[in-house]
Amino acid sequence: MIKPLHIKNTTYSCNLVQGPLAGVSCAPFRALVLKWGKPAFSYTEMISCKTLIHGNPTLQQRFVLKVPGETLCFQLSSNNVFELGLATRMVTDYGADLIDLNCGCPVKKIRSKGAGSHLLSEASKIYSLIRAMKENTHCPVSIKIRVDADSDDHFNQDIASAIADAGADFITVHGRHWRHGYDIPCAYDDIAFFVDALDIPVIGNGDIACLPSLKRMFKTGCAGVMIARAGVGQPWLIQQLISQAQNVPYQIPLPLTIGKLFQEHLFGLCKLLSSDNFAVLQARTFAKYYARTLPNKQVFCEDFNRCNDLKSAVRIIEDYFIDG
Ligand SMILES: Cc1cc2nc3c(=O)[nH]c(=O)nc-3n(C[C@H](O)[C@H](O)[C@H](O)COP(=O)(O)O)c2cc1C
Repeated sequence: MIKPLHIKNTTYSCNLVQGPLAGVSCAPFRALVLKWGKPAFSYTEMISCKTLIHGNPTLQQRFVLKVPGETLCFQLSSNNVFELGLATRMVTDYGADLIDLNCGCPVKKIRSKGAGSHLLSEASKIYSLIRAMKENTHCPVSIKIRVDADSDDHFNQDIASAIADAGADFITVHGRHWRHGYDIPCAYDDIAFFVDALDIPVIGNGDIACLPSLKRMFKTGCAGVMIARAGVGQPWLIQQLISQAQNVPYQIPLPLTIGKLFQEHLFGLCKLLSSDNFAVLQARTFAKYYARTLPNKQVFCEDFNRCNDLKSAVRIIEDYFIDG
């Protein structure tokens, strides 16, 4: 189950990766995941190629900052071959270790630009976009897709052919249709379809949060597994799963340590965003994940979501996690 992952001509130490989460997966989060979880690699948030090419330098800094020592997969978003080629060159220069194209985002604003999951209805476009990435980098390139399960769509086969013909180096499959958000059960058979159809590593994704869910995903035959939401607030999760898969008990950090991790995340955001208030606003969106194990997590989240400044955010974390 847990073993080294081979992609193109690189072997990664394990086959668990930390996936992309817009609004979360910037450097301060990934620094915690690197230190505590030690994934094969982590993903950036989805980065619009237009933002990379034309955006202001402050915004770009948020997206391109790499944590020292991390292996990083830059995730790009585009439906334009020329822009994607240029952005691929740019992130290669910024130190990308792998480069992924988002072909699964269900958000209307992204789909209306012909990007994200909209691309799943255009297999020939996906072929051209993968070729544009391949021609502009030496890094392994991949796409992250959703599947056609539980819908009238039938794109799995066409997408698999486009990926194979274009020579992608690996693929990540989130086992739900883009219309189905995040809550219905994952379609493992669709992930297994891509494993059977392709000769490249397939990374399975969807709802991995514990050993049984990890085992279920590996039954699809996938070479690796992506953990996304469950890594937030428990950056040690990948090491926990690796230990448990080897029948070694894992001691989950105490609330005191979790509170300190949350504060470290928050201080990292203050530095990255050069604004304490923006950092607190962003931290409010994921406070619930750090609060998973708090007995009074509801009250903590209400309190935290009311605070606007760093001093009170730090104090509330101390009250609940450290002094409480
Ligand atoms: C808030 C949020 C932001 C996300 N941002 C991205 C993103 O930027 N790029 C992407 O490919 N997927 C994104 N996803 C999808 C996740 O990477 C992942 O495919 C999905 O959450 C299922 O995996 P999980 O059950 O392990 O979370 C996002 C999901 C959520 C809930």
